[in-house]
Amino acid sequence: MYKRILDKIICPNSGTTDVKIYSVELNRQSKSEKNLQEENILPDDDIKSGIIYTSDKKYVYVIHEYIPILLNDADQDLVHLNSIAATLKNQLPNDLADAFQNTINRIAAQHHSEDGDWNREEMKYYDSAVDTEKQREAMLKSIRNENLWRIFIPRRESMIKYLEKNCKGKWIFEIGCGNARTVSRIFNPAEFGYNYIGTDISFKRLMVAKMAIPGSDFIQASALNIPIKNNFFDAAISFGMLHHLPRPTDAFSEVDKKLKSEGIFTLHEPVYTTRQFTEKQTAMVRKLFRTYEHSDHDNKINLKETTDTLKKLNYKVLNTVPYNSLFRVVYEAFMNRIYKSWHSHKGLTKTVLAIDNLLLNTVVKLSNKLGPQAIVITSVKQKVS
Ligand SMILES: C[S@@+](CC[C@H](N)C(=O)[O-])C[C@H]1O[C@@H](n2cnc3c(N)ncnc32)[C@H](O)[C@@H]1O
Repeated sequence: MYKRILDKIICPNSGTTDVKIYSVELNRQSKSEKNLQEENILPDDDIKSGIIYTSDKKYVYVIHEYIPILLNDADQDLVHLNSIAATLKNQLPNDLADAFQNTINRIAAQHHSEDGDWNREEMKYYDSAVDTEKQREAMLKSIRNENLWRIFIPRRESMIKYLEKNCKGKWIFEIGCGNARTVSRIFNPAEFGYNYIGTDISFKRLMVAKMAIPGSDFIQASALNIPIKNNFFDAAISFGMLHHLPRPTDAFSEVDKKLKSEGIFTLHEPVYTTRQFTEKQTAMVRKLFRTYEHSDHDNKINLKETTDTLKKLNYKVLNTVPYNSLFRVVYEAFMNRIYKSWHSHKGLTKTVLAIDNLLLNTVVKLSNKLGPQAIVITSVKQKVS
């Protein structure tokens, strides 16, 4: 975690912005520095291990492998926290080690909320595929090389175009960034010059995200309790995250709190609507074409409820694009089978895209009438007059 984001962080339990930091180990221009108090940490220092704590020392949060774990007590994973505490506690000054132990004791004594239990299940599901160093390296390789045409093209065309306009120096956050695959590939903060904070419930996916975009910040946080400053951010992104929540629209008011007036909220989600296929057929299609790597918590969002919620929160919908992935999935699978690296050849890519466009305006258009499988919505927070 770069020290420069400390003043953007709020305590997920109390909401206070009065937070401090202690670094056990950090990276300063590729050199390691140990045991530094806040006043000796520079804005561009990347803290590998340490703690963030409220100035009354009631709430202590761990920074582990560059990622602050900013979960409220109910959402904390005690097994993970205790495993980090085993080595971290001995490296803290006595007063902070005591405060950390008090936090662990408080969490251990509490009952967990329903959403907290649900989040931990989701955490485990997403953690499990990248449990080891080897698996994380393999996932990093795949997010750098894999050609996800069916996902990247609609996101680039219908979402990124609203974000990239004058984005230099702006602050954008993502809920459920996972391994930050989309952002690292098509809207890389280093290339576009904006400040990005990725948040997700899965710690290990975030470790991969940090490997993919080392110059950015990643926070382990729930989309229902985003521990960053209110009315500060210029845009928020959800790429296939909201439908993992028990009630997807619950996250909207949380995102709204973080965005400033005229901030953009853009999302790409599977929708629950009339569908071409039964659930059994859909499962077969997924298996055949590996469309989604979903957990059991795949709720799909309700389109009307989504747009109604946005309007209630005073957002103007700029763009709604129904999107039927099947034809692109089939087409991409076909192209990849006959020539895997077609996307690295400009001429070939152009031809493929021209055929795709033709499909989009004919077959896909027709099948969308039966009900889209996914939807891209971009909205803007209206000024309160
Ligand atoms: C389908 S993945 C999307 C990953 C990424 N946005 C992308 O474009 O590849 C869904 C992500 O949502 C995260 N997630 C699920 N429930 C969450 C919650 N309550 N809060 C934050 N993230 C959550 C999962 O850990 C997972 O990384």
